[in-house]
Amino acid sequence: MIIKNICCIGAGYVGGPTMAVIAKNNPNIKVTIVDINAERIAAWNDSDLSKLPIYEPGLAEIVKDIRGENLFFSTDIDTAINESEMIFISVNTPTKTYGKGKGMAADLKYIELCARNIAKVAVTDKIVVEKSTLPVRTAEAIKSILHNTGNHINFDILSNPEFLAEGTAVEDLLNPDRVLIGGESEVAIESLAKVYGSWVPQEKILRTNLWSSELSKLTANAFLAQRVSSINAISELCEHTGANVNEVSKAIGMDSRIGSKFLKASIGFGGSCFQKDILNLVYIARNYNLNEVADYWEQVIIMNDHQKRRFSDRLIKTLYNTVSGKKIGMLGWAFKKDTNDTRESAAIYVTDHLLSEQATISVYDPKVPEVKIQADLNYLNTRSKNENKENVMSESSPYEAVKNAHAVVIMTEWDEFKNYNWKKIYDTMKKPAFIFDGRNILDKFKMKEIGFEYYSIGQ
Ligand code: UDX
Ligand code: ADP
Repeated sequence: MIIKNICCIGAGYVGGPTMAVIAKNNPNIKVTIVDINAERIAAWNDSDLSKLPIYEPGLAEIVKDIRGENLFFSTDIDTAINESEMIFISVNTPTKTYGKGKGMAADLKYIELCARNIAKVAVTDKIVVEKSTLPVRTAEAIKSILHNTGNHINFDILSNPEFLAEGTAVEDLLNPDRVLIGGESEVAIESLAKVYGSWVPQEKILRTNLWSSELSKLTANAFLAQRVSSINAISELCEHTGANVNEVSKAIGMDSRIGSKFLKASIGFGGSCFQKDILNLVYIARNYNLNEVADYWEQVIIMNDHQKRRFSDRLIKTLYNTVSGKKIGMLGWAFKKDTNDTRESAAIYVTDHLLSEQATISVYDPKVPEVKIQADLNYLNTRSKNENKENVMSESSPYEAVKNAHAVVIMTEWDEFKNYNWKKIYDTMKKPAFIFDGRNILDKFKMKEIGFEYYSIGQ
């Protein structure tokens, strides 16, 4: 099947960068990204590229280059569906907050709405590609909806999970380790392989059955998250034994069987995928009564929650067992550097805990605006919006955020934090001046020399 038009439903962190890179490498294909969120689409169409809804290094340049040429952003979902031979579903699949599977299973209502919409408006054959992270066998549900409510046309379903990491999305898309396509129809699989083939070498394009593809995505994220929880577990042991977790990471990472990536101890992993995908895996395993399998993977999340909690517990204990009325300067709110995404960021949970102990928090993040910080805290529903607003300030200068603070906490590993004038920061803080470096990015000896009481992870 020759693909001339692609529609992508969902203009988010996955859909936006993925389609930009597909369009860039396939000038003969018209790619239209649609979304029900009109504000988001307007931001994607803004002539001021700093207003794009998603910050990713290199993305604005691509959008500038091809927007209006073969890359379009629109709210007219039905027209885009009708025009296209291939439709990607890239909508959000958050963890359910109600009913059966609450707090565990993925909420597939947005996926189902998409499938019903496609079925309703499509009058020619379509290849439908699952791009969002989904529980295994979701393709079955999509297929059933399309075939039972559609206009008796042919739908081929493919699973094409996204492996890009935020902050390096464009680079990951341009040079993927592999592209995975799962499906039943060889013609459909090869049509999608051809789209990727315009810049990805064929040997990196894996073809599997649908269920292997869906499960591989969950498994890849579970393995990565497990590595972070494993090194974080060791970081606690390091703090009690005098070992240094950075040294341990380096020593084990040089073993080529283990490898050096994803061994950085931290305040705990965040992001929209790791926790959600593991919960999904646990939920599926429990559904099949595979309790040992479920318990095994659940432990990765338990360890991650423990890491966040023990970080704030240690801070409180060190500040003489109380943070009540004390200002804490927080550097970083995003779940990792080089992104404005804050989903499941450890900063949210650490702040929530410190607020419950009556601290006031002053935040600086280079890419996250105040409204987002407040929205993240309000979403937890721990206290009133007013209380959050009164006790959490957002500053546009890092030096203002930490002025008069009893402690500085580092939540995100933004590069710029390393180059601040830390002597100047020390001079404006209350004494003793504490740093809790949740990312181990500062030089311990330099900080101690300036006069700071410096605490990091696993040292
Ligand atoms: C992840 C997967 O890497 C990606 O393949 C998938 O498509 C989506 O989920 P992402 O969530 O964007 O990507 O970021 P990632 O780089 O994996 O980091 C996840 C979290 O783990 C971050 O909070 C990060 O700070 C933390 N992390 C990562 C560590 O604490 N230590 C590490 O060594 C690596
Ligand atoms: P992800 O990280 O998976 O890309 P995001 O939340 O960043 O998740 O993006 C998902 C996008 O999908 C949002 O912009 C949301 O408005 C959009 N969306 C959700 N449901 C639908 C739907 N039925 N039709 C069109 N867009 C949708």
